[in-house]
Amino acid sequence: MNFSRVILAILATSPVMTLAAETIQHAWWKEAVVYQVYPRSFKDSNGDGVGDLKGITSKLEYIQRLGVNVIWLSPHFDSPNADNGYDIRDYRKVMADFGTMADFDELLHGIKQRNMKLILDLVVNHTSDEHAWFAESRKSKDSPYRDHYFWRPAKDGHEPNNWVSFFSGSAWTLDPATNEYYLHLFAAKQPDLNWDNPKVRREVYDLMKFWLDKGVDGFRMDVIPFISKRPGLPDLPPDYMTRPQYFYAMGPHLHEYLREMNREVLSKYDAMTVGEAFGVTLEQTPSLVDERRHELDMIFNFDVVRLNRDGEQWRDWTLPEMKAIYTTEDKALDAHSWNTVFLSNHDNPRVVSAFGDDSAAFRIPSAKLLATMVLTLKGTPFIYQGDELGMTNYPFTRIEEFDDIQVKNGWKADVLTGKMKAGPYLANLRKTSRDNSRTPMQWDDSSSAGFTTAATPWLRVNPNYKDINAARELADPSSIYNYFCKMVEFRKKTPALVYGVYEDLDPRNAHIFAYTRTLGTEKYLVVLNFSKADVSYTLPGGITAGELQISNLASRESKTHALQLKAWEARVYRQ
Ligand code: NOJ
Repeated sequence: MNFSRVILAILATSPVMTLAAETIQHAWWKEAVVYQVYPRSFKDSNGDGVGDLKGITSKLEYIQRLGVNVIWLSPHFDSPNADNGYDIRDYRKVMADFGTMADFDELLHGIKQRNMKLILDLVVNHTSDEHAWFAESRKSKDSPYRDHYFWRPAKDGHEPNNWVSFFSGSAWTLDPATNEYYLHLFAAKQPDLNWDNPKVRREVYDLMKFWLDKGVDGFRMDVIPFISKRPGLPDLPPDYMTRPQYFYAMGPHLHEYLREMNREVLSKYDAMTVGEAFGVTLEQTPSLVDERRHELDMIFNFDVVRLNRDGEQWRDWTLPEMKAIYTTEDKALDAHSWNTVFLSNHDNPRVVSAFGDDSAAFRIPSAKLLATMVLTLKGTPFIYQGDELGMTNYPFTRIEEFDDIQVKNGWKADVLTGKMKAGPYLANLRKTSRDNSRTPMQWDDSSSAGFTTAATPWLRVNPNYKDINAARELADPSSIYNYFCKMVEFRKKTPALVYGVYEDLDPRNAHIFAYTRTLGTEKYLVVLNFSKADVSYTLPGGITAGELQISNLASRESKTHALQLKAWEARVYRQ
C-alpha cells in the first residue's frame, strides 16, 4: 500500500499534529518486516543433514505467506564452518554444503518474483584463517598481505595484550611460521581484518558491489562496530574484562570507515543496512544511524535481548527494566534515526523460552503476545525462523549435544579446568546457548521434523516436533503461525504502527505493558499481560480502551477502561 498517501491524508485531517508530515522520512525498509533464515537449519533438499539454498527456495511460499517482505540470510559463503559460516574463506563463492551460485541465483530470483527482498550477512570484521589473504599473510613478515591482519610480536614472552576472545581465552594466537601473534576477537580460525589498511577496505567494498550487482537489497553487518581498533591496541581495563565488547566497539575511525563505505558503495544502490551493534550503548546509537550522517540505516541494540544475562550467566529480568530500555531507545532516536525491534536471532535462545513461558499451558498465548509486541513497537521488526511457530529451547542435558564453538571452547576453559561445576554450567547453557535457536526447523511430524531425509541432521531436532511444526500450524486457524500472519498484515496496513509516536502509559507496572502508537488522529493502544496470572487492569489517566482490533485470546472487551486480562493476554485497540 502507499503509506505516504495514507499518512498525508491522516495528517491533513488531524486536529492534534503529533507528527508533522515533513518529519516523516519514508523508506521501504522502515515499512518492512524482516525474516531471518539460518540456512544450515532451515530445510535440507539433498538429504545430507544440512540445510541448503534449494531447501530455502522450496519454502519461499511459506515465508511469503507469513507476509514478511525481506529475508535476511545468515552467511551462505564458502567457509570451513568453525563458526557456522561466520568464518568466510571466499566471499564470492557459495558454501558447498549449501549448494552452488546457480542455486543462489535461483533463490534470489524466487524471492524477487514474490516481491520480497534479500539482504545478506556481511562478515568483514574477520575472515576465516583459510581465506587466501590470511594464508598469504601468515607466510612471512613481509608478505604483501601481512598488513591485512593484526600481527604482533610477543610482549615479555606473552600475548601482545590482555584482550580476551568472545569464544574463551586470549584473543591472540601464536603462529609458528613467523613466531608472531595474530588477533582474533572470536575463534582462532577467525582472524581480524585490519581496516586501517585501505587495501582491505577496497576489497570489502568490491565484494559488497559483487553481491549488490547481483540484485541483493542490502546487508546485515556482523559486529560492525569492532572494525576500527583502538590505536596501539591498549590493554583492556579490568572492569571491561567481562564485557569487552564495550571496549572493542566504536574505535576512532569507525564513523569514517562507515561513511566511506556509504559513499563508495551503498549510496549507489537502494540498499538497506542493519549493523549488529554489539558493544554500542543507546546513547551512541544515533551517531551510527542518523540519516544525515550517511553511515547505517539501523542497528541491532542488544540491551533488551541480553536483559536476561549477566555476562554469560542467565538472570531473571523484569518487565519495568524492559520497558525502560524501549523508552530510552525511543528517546535516544529522533526523527532522523530509525530503530529495529527483535527478541531473538541465531545467537540467542528461543523467544518464547526467554521472554515468554514455554510450558504447555502458556506457550501459545505467550508466543502470540511477544509477536504482538514485536510487531507493534516502533522500529523495523526482525523475526527469527521458527519463532513464528513458537519453537522452544532444546532440552539439553549433556555437553555432547551441543555443536556451538562458543560452548565447546567455554566448556574446555571453564569446566575441564575445574573453574566451574558441570551441573550449573549445563543448566545455564540450557537457557542461554545459541544452539537453542539453531535446531532444525520443524516442518511436520515425519522423522527429523521434515527438515531432512538423512538419518542424522547436523544438530538434533527438538523432541517436541510432533506437537510443534509448520504443517500442523498452517492447518490450525488458531495457531501461532496464523496469528503471526494476522499481526504482520495488520502492521503492514496500519501506518501508525510503523511511523506513529510511541508512549509507554505505565512504566512501573510489573505485569502489564500498555503503550500507544499515534499518528495524527490515528491512535492504537496495545495492552500486554506479561504474567501467568489473570489481571484486572484499570487503564491509567482515565483512558478508555477503544475498539478491539486484535486479541491473542478470544476476548471481546471494548470501550472500557477496566480490563479483565487473562494470563499472557495481548490486545490491540483502536482509540
Ligand atoms: C556475530 C554473529 O551473529 C555470531 O553468530 C558470530 O559467532 C560472531 N558475530 C562472529 O562472527
